[in-house]
Amino acid sequence: MPIKTCIFDAYGTLFDVAAAARNAASEPGREAFATHWPTIAENWRHKQLQYTWLRAITGDHVDFWQVTEDGLDWALEAAGLDGDADLRARLLQLYRELDAYPEVPDTLRALKARGLNIVILSNGSRNMLRAAVDSAAIGDLLDDTLSVDSVGIFKPAAQVYDLVGQRFHGAKSSVLFVSSNGWDAGSAAGYGFETVWVNRAGAPIDRLAARPRHVLTDLTTLPELAS
Ligand code: LAC
Repeated sequence: MPIKTCIFDAYGTLFDVAAAARNAASEPGREAFATHWPTIAENWRHKQLQYTWLRAITGDHVDFWQVTEDGLDWALEAAGLDGDADLRARLLQLYRELDAYPEVPDTLRALKARGLNIVILSNGSRNMLRAAVDSAAIGDLLDDTLSVDSVGIFKPAAQVYDLVGQRFHGAKSSVLFVSSNGWDAGSAAGYGFETVWVNRAGAPIDRLAARPRHVLTDLTTLPELAS
């Protein structure tokens, strides 16, 4: 089945989730943070994601901004930096304006030239996604941005992947689903999408019910898969 729609996860796939902590660490007056920032960034991301899964299981949905704040608060407390209100505010501000990975604009342009629908499907709230798309200046290259806000549950719940068919009405196998999150790529493969795992970190593959068909190290060669 030819690919008609290319669906992207947002955080970690298009937007560099470590950029907020990395950029804050280089600012003057942040020496205590600068020594701990990689661990804080990793804990922040892990807790943010854990909270999405737990809230999906227990039915206690909040928006992604809330779990982003909650994950950061856990990570700052673990590092003994929970009293630094200025640091917390700065990290959250930077998270709203994350950098896109360098290859993203060219990749999206190449996919658009092939006539594909290019869409974000993300746990991110509508406001967060709008801010990130604007600051990365990729809005002109997207056909739509779909947020879990409209279903009130996080990935990998099937209701989230269902949003693609509701919007584009094609066969699941005509969708190329792209995520740097191994659990998201595996779950989307099980759902029936043609799936790409962007293994930026060189991690082992997740042991889930299904595995992604394709594994890339970044997005540079993605357009070749969509031909
Ligand atoms: C997203 C998270 C999972 O954008 O990265 O949905």
